[in-house]
Amino acid sequence: MNVLDVIKNRRTIKKFKTDAVPLDLIYSWLEAAKMAPNHRMTEPWEVYFIGPETRAKLNHKTDFGNAPVLIAVISKHGASAIEKEENALATACFVQNFNLAAWAGGVGTFWSSIGVTAKNQEILGVPENYDLIGVLAIGFPELIPDPKPRTSIMNKIKNLP
Ligand SMILES: Cc1cc2nc3c(=O)[nH]c(=O)nc-3n(C[C@H](O)[C@H](O)[C@H](O)COP(=O)(O)O)c2cc1C
Repeated sequence: MNVLDVIKNRRTIKKFKTDAVPLDLIYSWLEAAKMAPNHRMTEPWEVYFIGPETRAKLNHKTDFGNAPVLIAVISKHGASAIEKEENALATACFVQNFNLAAWAGGVGTFWSSIGVTAKNQEILGVPENYDLIGVLAIGFPELIPDPKPRTSIMNKIKNLP
């Protein structure tokens, strides 16, 4: 698959097979993800692999579609409010790099906002000087949904004088 196909065909997966995803593959996609752009080379991302005890405490309504692997991606704050924001944006790029690398390898992801609440951040042990960018469910897709329609990008383009 070329990069455009990977970008266009990736879907959020909400039903996974329970087959294990080899850890060395996940590490290789995380290694690729770290090539995300990041201002001043802060490399603000960190990854927690979520074990069964912590996962049960999150109490997600579908247990993340039975995904065999669950990770949390957090982003370190910077020296200023601007750096904190830039770091969060860089970490979102890291997450999408990971999602696309996994998809190219036949593995789907579900980027969940479950970590937005203070309670879930406490369960995950997110330090005070970090933002939680997402909890990612990872696994082989059981069901690949149809693409959700998008607005033509021509409606989103403005030509400045
Ligand atoms: C930052 C972020 C948070 C998201 N959180 C959730 C979520 O909590 N629950 C959910 O069902 N989908 C979540 N999604 C996935 C979107 O719902 C999904 O990307 C969107 O429906 C488009 O589907 P697609 O990714 O298959 O194109 C999130 C996506 C992003 C980028």
